[in-house]
Amino acid sequence: MRHLKLFTPGPIEVREEILQAMATPQIHHRSKEFSDLYAEIQPKLQKLLYTQNPVFIFASSATGAMEAAVINGVKKKCLNLANGAFSNRWHEITTMNGIPADKLEVEWGKAIKPEMVKEKLDTGEYDAVTLVFNETSTGVMNPLKEIAEVVKQYDDVLLFVDAVSAMAGVKIEVDKLGIDMCLAGMQKCFGLPAGIAVASISERLLERAKEVNRGFYFNLPRLYKYHLKNQTMVTPPIPHLFALNMQLDYILSEEGLENRFARHEKMAKIVQDWARKYFDIFAEKGYESKTLTCIENTRNISVADLNKELAKHYLRISNGYGKLKEKTFRIAHMGDLQVHDIKGLLALIEEILNL
Ligand SMILES: Cc1ncc(COP(=O)(O)O)c(C=O)c1O
Repeated sequence: MRHLKLFTPGPIEVREEILQAMATPQIHHRSKEFSDLYAEIQPKLQKLLYTQNPVFIFASSATGAMEAAVINGVKKKCLNLANGAFSNRWHEITTMNGIPADKLEVEWGKAIKPEMVKEKLDTGEYDAVTLVFNETSTGVMNPLKEIAEVVKQYDDVLLFVDAVSAMAGVKIEVDKLGIDMCLAGMQKCFGLPAGIAVASISERLLERAKEVNRGFYFNLPRLYKYHLKNQTMVTPPIPHLFALNMQLDYILSEEGLENRFARHEKMAKIVQDWARKYFDIFAEKGYESKTLTCIENTRNISVADLNKELAKHYLRISNGYGKLKEKTFRIAHMGDLQVHDIKGLLALIEEILNL
């Protein structure tokens, strides 16, 4: 079907085969067929995340999983690391739930540095840290490994990572990094329609959640009881699970994880070399995202008009996020987009803009 091919950092283009899988007739979520499906998905998610921890499936978008992290995992005070729209959202989610929290904020476009985190954790005030690994609003990829190394030095501090626009596109070794909750939605590097979120849940987080005992919809110990039966607590969007199962097979067996990560790196390099040639990159040097590029609009083009022209060719990119609208624009190079798709898009932009 002719449609706008999305080069937007979520939602992203979805393969036809996946759309077909979503049209599979419904099964009942308390049936054996459903438990079999859930049980089939589980080890595949664990493989993708390099973890032995259970990976929960939330019947919500990724924001719901962000809320789940802080309502379950903070007893004392949370440190929200913020350098863009989504990391600021996590601070808002924390405080709006009445949970004590401080924000460690750096300018949009800059990365959070491990020594900044260390300085805050040295105060002994915090028992949890939230980090958005890949800030979709700015195209900054924070140094996850280095920050995780810092957090590991504090026994009672849990680490929650929003990997929404990185998971399934960039390697994240959950167990090695000691991440207590690593969450993502489906509409980015997974190459699936939005609708569910997944998150790995550590044993320490489950223990903390039992003590805290907050919330209902996202109450982790309650959700865990169902997880152990290969079920979800609430009625899940079943079509998404058919699609996820099929896509995990594609990622793990057909493409292969290492190939997938390498393809994301390759696409990022092409877009970033191009962006440096004709414009500039918004992210601090050395911290450019591997899944999307936020391009500084140094030529003062109309991004809205560019998208109108691209639409005539059935393509769409993203304007800058929030306050960065028209000052930047974003090209996603994630999911199942291929190198030839990216090259075609860039060539067309050159033609439209007479570069
Ligand atoms: C880094 C990041 N975190 C969280 C979200 C929120 O995801 P959702 O809209 O699925 O709730 C997004 C969405 O773009 C995101 O990019």
